[in-house]
Amino acid sequence: MCGIVGYIGKADAPTVLMNGLRRLEYRGYDSAGIAILDDERVLIAKAPGKVSKLNERAHADWPSSLFQRASTGIAHTRWATHGPPTEVNAHPHLDQSGEIALVHNGIIENYRSIRARLEAKGHHFYSETDTEVLTHLIGDCDKGDLFQAVCDALHQVEGTFGIAVISAREPDKIITARRGSPIVIGVGEGETILASDASAIVAYTQRVIYLDDNDIAIITKDSIDIRDLNNIPVTREIAELAFDAAAAEKGGFDHFMLKEIHEQPESLGNAIRGRLDFNLGSSVLAGMGTSPRDLAELSRIVLVGCGTSLHAGMVGEYAFEDLADVHAEVQQAAEFRYRNPILGSRDMVVAISQSGETADTLAAVREANQKGAFVMSLCNVVGSTIARETGRGVYLHAGPEISVASTKAFTCQVVVLLMMALRLGRGRRFSRDEGIRFAREIESIPMLVAKVVAQNARIAEVAADYAKNEHAFFIGRGPMFPVALEGALKLKEVSYIHAEGYHAAELKHGPIALLEQGTPIIALAVDIPGKDKMLGNIEECRARGARILGVITEGDHETAECMDDFISIPRCHPLVATIPAVVALQLFAYHVARLRGCEIDQPRNLAKSVTVE
Ligand code: F6R
Repeated sequence: MCGIVGYIGKADAPTVLMNGLRRLEYRGYDSAGIAILDDERVLIAKAPGKVSKLNERAHADWPSSLFQRASTGIAHTRWATHGPPTEVNAHPHLDQSGEIALVHNGIIENYRSIRARLEAKGHHFYSETDTEVLTHLIGDCDKGDLFQAVCDALHQVEGTFGIAVISAREPDKIITARRGSPIVIGVGEGETILASDASAIVAYTQRVIYLDDNDIAIITKDSIDIRDLNNIPVTREIAELAFDAAAAEKGGFDHFMLKEIHEQPESLGNAIRGRLDFNLGSSVLAGMGTSPRDLAELSRIVLVGCGTSLHAGMVGEYAFEDLADVHAEVQQAAEFRYRNPILGSRDMVVAISQSGETADTLAAVREANQKGAFVMSLCNVVGSTIARETGRGVYLHAGPEISVASTKAFTCQVVVLLMMALRLGRGRRFSRDEGIRFAREIESIPMLVAKVVAQNARIAEVAADYAKNEHAFFIGRGPMFPVALEGALKLKEVSYIHAEGYHAAELKHGPIALLEQGTPIIALAVDIPGKDKMLGNIEECRARGARILGVITEGDHETAECMDDFISIPRCHPLVATIPAVVALQLFAYHVARLRGCEIDQPRNLAKSVTVE
């Protein structure tokens, strides 16, 4: 979603800010803007569309000497919420005096009443945004101390914010604050850079400070002074970023999505490394913070997440019930707190989120905490809000995921859930030998995935036959049902083909009415219990003219003969097979989208981290 960058340092602020914005492009946005302090004035450039357009605009409007001399500024990529993605609605916004500029992520919920109050005092607004209202409010509160003005304004707003503010009257500082929208500050030598996401910072420094909710910081080129909104100093540790700038580059691939699909043998290896115990036949997930007794006493596991993370939770549901004999259920994070969930201390709530910032998942965490459940998280982004608010959990170690369509985070989520299920299973039902056998299965996952990735060229050929369709159905049974959902989600988001995932048995309860001659059915027909029923469901589709693309087990010739086309994955445990199967579907979606000429890494209307409900 929206992205923030701020810089105060030696010089070259516009270039540093533009580079930062480019690093945030993957989050999804539809306009961009930049504000620079120069000679006690605020200069602003904005443009709808891409950062490249903003860069052209700034170079056209500003003298080239400004690019060398300006040392302070803020910049933003906007994903429209209040008002369309026009130049006028793009950030930064100015206050009434034109001397204070602000960029903002999040939503100011009570902006209408504040706007009416300020209009009554003579303020004029040029945009439809809640952000412009906040900027005017800060200007209205400014009696000669920008920091105090921002504190006073933030006391009056309801909603969420990550902000950066500059003022021509106090050119030696940037004020930044957060509530519900992340801000990370990079600590440089004679320069300080802030952003909503560490990927905008990593090219400049690995040393960062994450703000907590209700923190407000005064940043200069040499200092970072953090307080709470009541002006009480607070201490925040400096952390080292766990990735370098190269991790956020395409590394020779045409798209981040393809790079991240190919990285999966390595990212899965990182997620597994040091976490399997072949002596005990269990897994070691220290971050879970549970004793074997706690685990034995659990009565229920509730997995919450959104989108792809929700689908990973659905695979987890099968794993916990099958391996650990514990009741497990998946709930959409967006619905969780509105249905007044029944939870107690013997229920474990697992929040699953790549970004660790998804607003609905965060709200579910807070609800579960209120209800006294045992709450933990599976996040990829270290130091993210969900990871910090849960306090216990397991990091995915997938590395930065830049493509909006999630791939490597999904497979790492599933592998971590399998390791959790193994640990619970050992405490409840598995013998040591069974535990060791399953640990060996998990250990083999990177190699299984490498075998699927090696079929990239063949999957591209198969995809060519499906790229002209406008509809597709993905079907599966058992643990392959969530894989079908995830395959359909991947295809629709990157190729814009209308794709639906169904349980194979559900098709005949309605959707089968849509089948026509040549309608594509992507069938997860892997050789796992229930395959015979799956083959029956496939025949029902074939009888109605559907074209069947099967994901099957290597060497299963009988099943291959039931298909028009097939992609094979290595033989493995049914739960483990979800991972190579989904990788085959990720490659299929990628190649279909590529053949259709889609903007694969930043699909229209989508954002990488969804920080509004
Ligand atoms: C799809 C996708 C989204 C995310 C969802 C949750 O490819 O990426 O469906 O899975 O927005 O995001 P996180 O996992 O960051 O909470």
